[in-house]
Amino acid sequence: MYQLKVKEAADFIQTQINTEPTVGLILGSGLGVLADEITNPTTIVYGDIPHFPESTVSGHKGQLVIGELEGRQVIAMQGRFHYYEGYTMQQVTFPVRVMKELGVETLFVTNAAGGINEAFEPGNLMIITDHINNMGDSPLIGPNDEKMGPRFPDMSEAYDRALIDHAKQSAERLNLKVQQGVYVGNTGPAYETGAEIRMLRTLGGDAVGMSTVPEVMVANHAGLRVLGISCISNMAAGILDQPLTHDEVIETTAQVREDFLNFVKEALMTLPA
Ligand code: 6GU
Repeated sequence: MYQLKVKEAADFIQTQINTEPTVGLILGSGLGVLADEITNPTTIVYGDIPHFPESTVSGHKGQLVIGELEGRQVIAMQGRFHYYEGYTMQQVTFPVRVMKELGVETLFVTNAAGGINEAFEPGNLMIITDHINNMGDSPLIGPNDEKMGPRFPDMSEAYDRALIDHAKQSAERLNLKVQQGVYVGNTGPAYETGAEIRMLRTLGGDAVGMSTVPEVMVANHAGLRVLGISCISNMAAGILDQPLTHDEVIETTAQVREDFLNFVKEALMTLPA
């Protein structure tokens, strides 16, 4: 049933485009501007795609943009689905299945995240080297369809080692300072308490957000290579003495937008085929 829905969504998208995207981009809060740089774009709002959920949170647009970026055929999500919106894990990760069905092999996943590592500063970019699923749920729970991936998928290189190295080199070429670290996926929608952030630091987390982990798990299950990039939009609770607001998240991502765009474009342009 699920696979049929994936197929129907992919077939619909296929009728709207004449390219075969090989790189998928999931663009987080305030980072959707990257899709505006796609040339010869085909834009499809989520509501028009069979079985696609619809996006609700502010700062997210809710559409696919398919076309060319830095010489690559890409399919970008301008806005994603979050677990805290009430979508099931299957709904949150549905677009990843659709991308796979369309022929995507590499997935760039981006997000705005809170800094846990005290050496980080708002505005930093972080290459995600690993994650901690702290959502208490998994998109892979339920009957497993072997056609979509293995029952017990390996997650030892959830973020592709070669892509991490590639991203580091891309940043160096641009003289861009990028951090690297472990992303903790929490459900949200509340930001964490100071005590929770201290706990997550003890557990090995460097940044925390409300997305990414489900999509990356499904991408690995489906055999996609993943590159993850966090934009540290603010420091998490208990580090600086100020309350957290979604406006701050959007503001900071606006400031690092330029670095973020250049970084992702450089990584795309030089991505080995
Ligand atoms: Cl501090 N926490 C979470 N869960 N998500 C965030 C964040 C913090 N800052 C941006 N996104």
